Amino acid sequence: MEQRLIDKIQQLKKQRNAVILAHNYQLQDIQDLADITGDSLGLSKQAAQTEADTIVFCGVMFMAETAAILSPDKTVLIPEKTAGCPMADMITAEQLRELKKQHPDSLVVCYVNSTADIKAESDYCCTSSNAVEVVRSLPKDKEIIFVPDQHLGRHVQQQTGRELILWPGYCPSHVVITVEDIRAEKKRYPDALVITHPECSEPVKEASDALLSTGQMLTYVRNSTARRFIVATEVGMTHALKKVRPDAEFIPAGSRAVCPNMKKITIDKLIASMEDMKYKVTVDKAVADKARRSLKRMIEILPTA
Ligand code: 13P
Ligand code: SF4
Repeated sequence: MEQRLIDKIQQLKKQRNAVILAHNYQLQDIQDLADITGDSLGLSKQAAQTEADTIVFCGVMFMAETAAILSPDKTVLIPEKTAGCPMADMITAEQLRELKKQHPDSLVVCYVNSTADIKAESDYCCTSSNAVEVVRSLPKDKEIIFVPDQHLGRHVQQQTGRELILWPGYCPSHVVITVEDIRAEKKRYPDALVITHPECSEPVKEASDALLSTGQMLTYVRNSTARRFIVATEVGMTHALKKVRPDAEFIPAGSRAVCPNMKKITIDKLIASMEDMKYKVTVDKAVADKARRSLKRMIEILPTA
């Protein structure tokens, strides 16, 4: 990246007293110049703790919304306002209210990949790194509705032995990875370990060595003696992994696993965002207050997660 652009970003950061947060699927340049990179849980916590006045969120809209809910007094910017998450948009608040009516005594757990409205309608939030623990902590005699990701939901069912009422949402970028992709790479690299995001389909997960959030993948490879990993998640992850284990080889399980929304944020848009203080992410106060409760309950269950 040109030094002039790096200097410009540093100058704007100072001027705005801003912190740049970036998800592990962002373009390489964005990951490299961010102050903090991480998974959904890690970035939410950083957003809640930061001393900066402005949080520039390089990720997708639900992540920036979560930052705005947890830090209502800060200015939260997203450099590209159309960077959404199709999975988060697969359920509406109206649909969730209807489901709750059908199961009036149930508890609702929503994956953080959801809109603020869905978080406001839910009892607990979770991320891919703590969904199993959140569900395990809930009373055994309660029915549990889990939205919107059916694949993360099935992983939780399998790990906890609990029957969940699942919403049929899915991530379009993860379900394109097939078990044939895994088998083909395993044939080429029999020594490689397969690390997989729980948003992948069930046959892919069954063919894997470990099911991990993107943050957990970084810890796993850091502590592993293996030299090769087949990575079943969005392709941007291999850049983040290479930084923690430059000596290891990371093979994407499917080059089609691209999240187009994560790739919308570019250096030019990041600069324009800080120059013009756009696009401000705000959440209606009544919705934010209710959504914050489900996020805080998640953090209270797992204070050290
Ligand atoms: P992580 O919380 O594991 O980073 O996952 C976020 C996401 O959007 C996966 O598609
Ligand atoms: Fe949403 Fe999938 Fe993109 Fe993650 S990778 S932000 S779940 S569309």
